[in-house]
Amino acid sequence: MENLQLRSFADYKKAYKKSITDPEAFWDEIATTFKWQKKWDSTLEWDFEKPEVKWFKGGKLNITENCLDRHLETLGNKTAIIWEPNDPDEESRYITYRQLFVKVSHFANVLKNNGIKKGDKVCLYMPMIPELAIAMLACARIGAVHSIVFAGFSSSAIARRINDSNCKMLVTANEVYRGAKKVNLKEMCDKALEETPGIETVIVYRRTVEPTPMKEGRDKFWFDELQKAEKECPAEVMDAEDLLFILYTSGSTGKPKGMVHTVGGYMVGTTYTFQNVFQLEKDDVYWCTADIGWITGHSYIIYGPLASGATTVMFEGIPSYPDYGRFWDIVDKLKVTHFYTAPTAIRSLAKQPLNFVESHDLSSLKVLGSVGEPINEEAWHWYNDNIGKGNCPVVDTWWQTETGAIMISPLAGITPTRPTFATLPLPGVQPALMDDQGEEIPNTSEPVEGRLAIKFPWPSIARTIYGDHQRYKEVYFSTFKNKYFTGDGAYRDATGNYRITGRVDDIVIVSGHNLGTAAIENAIDEHEHVVESAVVGFPHEVKGNALYAYVILYNKVEPSEELEKEIKNIVSQTLGPIAKPEKIQFVSGLPKTRSGKIMRRILRKIASNDTENLGDTSTLLNPEVVEEIKSGALN
Ligand code: WTA
Repeated sequence: MENLQLRSFADYKKAYKKSITDPEAFWDEIATTFKWQKKWDSTLEWDFEKPEVKWFKGGKLNITENCLDRHLETLGNKTAIIWEPNDPDEESRYITYRQLFVKVSHFANVLKNNGIKKGDKVCLYMPMIPELAIAMLACARIGAVHSIVFAGFSSSAIARRINDSNCKMLVTANEVYRGAKKVNLKEMCDKALEETPGIETVIVYRRTVEPTPMKEGRDKFWFDELQKAEKECPAEVMDAEDLLFILYTSGSTGKPKGMVHTVGGYMVGTTYTFQNVFQLEKDDVYWCTADIGWITGHSYIIYGPLASGATTVMFEGIPSYPDYGRFWDIVDKLKVTHFYTAPTAIRSLAKQPLNFVESHDLSSLKVLGSVGEPINEEAWHWYNDNIGKGNCPVVDTWWQTETGAIMISPLAGITPTRPTFATLPLPGVQPALMDDQGEEIPNTSEPVEGRLAIKFPWPSIARTIYGDHQRYKEVYFSTFKNKYFTGDGAYRDATGNYRITGRVDDIVIVSGHNLGTAAIENAIDEHEHVVESAVVGFPHEVKGNALYAYVILYNKVEPSEELEKEIKNIVSQTLGPIAKPEKIQFVSGLPKTRSGKIMRRILRKIASNDTENLGDTSTLLNPEVVEEIKSGALN
């Protein structure tokens, strides 16, 4: 199924032009290649003022018919998913398209038997096992909305997300293997469930044989429920604009944003970009190392690859277990052709001795991908030279949870690549760089830098923030008139190639994970001895960025290592270990403007050890505090 692929740079340029001059005709033609139960009435209706975007309105379809049913005749025996377990001695699982179809239909009936209907929300908190893919597709099969919560999040983070999206059911596993550790997911869920009155049923997949405490009437084992369920399940008829899933991403206030994606446009967008960016051939083996708990896993482990009839790898473990050669061991073992990972993983592997790479045969590789944060030049070269051996195009793919699909990226083997550049917009994507006055910087042959916005809707744009359309409007459509604001800064060179320079808002990307500093501050402020805190990012060799917390303690409380630990623990418990600050500095005050706003720019500079150029501090309410913070006097 490579029917949507552009084959040459000339093809790309032609497609791009058409996508701009006649976007509706462009997407119409692409959408027609999918399986629809009824064709749409209008291709696009939009209004960025409201804001409202509708693609393929009136069209009826089910995304699982596109990911499964339509492949059965031609690709029924092809491997859809190869699952690689945490422990290299445990056997891999190969699941064909036909088997996946049967498993999804079967589990869809488990959902139905437990009262889940079209439109109901189901929270999935699961490890990277095929059952996660099965559960998400089963939801889509019956029109239930999945809300996947990354299995590294803490109990209170799960509870918050469950309550925000009114989930009725939770699907989880008893335990998860993560390297040499075992984590008890069910225990995390049980704690979360104390605060989630809406959950009626919990389905528990047994990943390990350990006994699992179950609550009578509420908790049910996956396998027991399968025994009671029919195997066949017709696909629910969905409107193109019906909800497919909700996925939370951090915001610049403490509350996470439940981004809403709808069936039709998301399917068309992820599939089109998957095929064009990666350029898979028939028997290729594609591996994206992301967790399905993030958008990259949704779009490029599951929906894009499966709708394309590709073979997609799911890996349960971590890159360092049993040793730092694990990724390369898997590439060798499964003969992976396409490998898609994050710069933070590349940097951490690049620090290891090269024999972890050299002891494996990587000659199956054809294409390398990068996602989640800017890839620095050094990491790019290491990846290109040592993994790709100079023979594999590196596609640096820029996109967001909100965009649903890749927006700016080379097409493998087609677009000329350049280290650190995400290069050119995909067909259908109209980027704009905005200056400090909020005006668009004209697209001339001058190199320019600005804030990155998008001028025209694309099919997989998130339609709203669940339950808070006003916030959707404020965050994405109020900074620039009639444009979607990405929150990123970018540079455009004389040839129109883009390099993403990083976030320009209060979101910090740590190891490829978006973290809102406000949520972390809220967690820190929960500590009984803390008056106020400010969290900023600073450059980190492996993680890209790390977090630096400035904390004001109540009078008479002495700073101590113990206190530092307690603060880190609070963050870990509230949000999950990924949000833990790397450094904590106790301060007597925070630099504030006269209107009481914290001057984060100054704090960012101090955290980055760039104290020469702090800019004008005279407008601060309390300039003297800057000197104290610089000297680290309280620590
Ligand atoms: C950043 C992940 C530079 C960016 C798909 C964006 C990138 C945020 C790249 C979205 C890239 C993602 N180069 N920066 N190739 N890809 N980003 O929602 O700041 O987890 O806004 O989506 O990651 O992160 P999210």
